[in-house]
Amino acid sequence: MMHLMTWLMGNSYHAAGWRHGLAWERTTMRLDVLVEVAKMAEQAKMDALFIADGNAVRNMDKIGLFEANTPSARPAVFDPVTLMAAISQHTEHIGLVSTASTTYESPWSVARRYASLDHLSNGRAAWNVVTGSNPGDSQNFGLEHHPNREERYARAEEFVEACTALWNSWEPDAFVERKDTGQYLDSSKVRTADYKGEHLSVKGPLNVARSPQGRPVLFHAGQSEGGRRLAARHADCIFAAAANVEAAREFTTDLKRRRAELGGDPDQLRIIVSVAIYLGRTEDESTALYHELNALIDPGLGVDFLAKAVSEDLSGYPIDGPMPDLAGPVVGGNSIRGQLDAIAKAEHLTIRQLYERVVPSVGNAALIGTATQVADVMEEWFRTGACDGFVLGASINPFTLRLIRDELVPELQRRGLFRTDYTGSTLREHLGLRTTA
Ligand SMILES: Cc1cc2nc3c(=O)[nH]c(=O)nc-3n(C[C@H](O)[C@H](O)[C@H](O)COP(=O)(O)O)c2cc1C
Repeated sequence: MMHLMTWLMGNSYHAAGWRHGLAWERTTMRLDVLVEVAKMAEQAKMDALFIADGNAVRNMDKIGLFEANTPSARPAVFDPVTLMAAISQHTEHIGLVSTASTTYESPWSVARRYASLDHLSNGRAAWNVVTGSNPGDSQNFGLEHHPNREERYARAEEFVEACTALWNSWEPDAFVERKDTGQYLDSSKVRTADYKGEHLSVKGPLNVARSPQGRPVLFHAGQSEGGRRLAARHADCIFAAAANVEAAREFTTDLKRRRAELGGDPDQLRIIVSVAIYLGRTEDESTALYHELNALIDPGLGVDFLAKAVSEDLSGYPIDGPMPDLAGPVVGGNSIRGQLDAIAKAEHLTIRQLYERVVPSVGNAALIGTATQVADVMEEWFRTGACDGFVLGASINPFTLRLIRDELVPELQRRGLFRTDYTGSTLREHLGLRTTA
């Protein structure tokens, strides 16, 4: 069965989507809007909601850009786990995936927050493990420099191991609460974590009882060698960024092979590809909306968006001149850099042409068309082993999300690709993952 998720955002996935007439009027810090997103996704029987996150307000040094800020730069957002705790009280079934960085946080507080969310939601919590790709985040945590990718992943490995040790502190039946004898807990059912690594240590035990899923579901979104290694060892689900079906298939095949080589079960690993959705009730409507949205992109913002995607300063180049060569990986860089470099070279694109390609898709695939056309692409990706599911970026909220619920999901259900109702209660069950001991 295919797995489906969407971003928990009131604003739209397209960077200029919030400006479109079909988008909500005001969404900043609006819990009511986010609850509506969550409810629509749950009505569509999706596996989970997803919140991405970072740890800095960006672009303050460039006032024009700062004021035209796209909501996806997240200048004003709720703390993700706090928000998910609120959402858990307005939903019953849908999984709650939120992001925390292993570079700046401590295992104790992350393990505690996510175990708490797992209890509050009756087993629907997941942690998207990231190492953080924005160098500016470091200054909010008293560090002068963003550690390089190798250092970040070395710490991330230990971080996940330490959290796992903390989540294993208590046996499920440790809290006996016997009024007759006065015994509140069974001391034979707790152990300290005693985790000592090169980068961090934590004693434990955690002061949260064992959580309903054993431990929260672990997502990871890294694509580099270090990211793939971490994911193959620890993740239940992996978010993949792939511009086309071949790139997705390469990634999925590689990660499942790595899992098998480590002695794990590749069928217990879910690869979720990120796609941007441009649905219309007709094909003409979908392409018209796509072009309307692109016309709303501020050029300064488009260049900045591209510069971030490729981790390269593009400010010195003419916007209608050729895209410069991108030589080698950089600190804080990512896999999209290599993919876009190849596209720009193959098609001889200018900076403007490349950003018009990247902004709508956010470096992933953009699926444009009617529900039938979009379902055709998703079916091909799914059936040919390119992924186990999708995280759907609704280009205009709420317009696109409504069409996802009312047209795309029913089309996938008609084809027998997607559930017509929830059959389990935990996120692990929705994803077909075994509960951890
Ligand atoms: C769907 C998806 C969601 C992501 N969400 C976040 C996020 O919330 N925070 C973050 O710092 N990075 C996020 N990333 C970036 C990844 O964590 C990672 O840095 C990036 O894919 C590059 O891989 P690497 O770290 O192995 O180089 C996301 C990536 C994808 C594909």
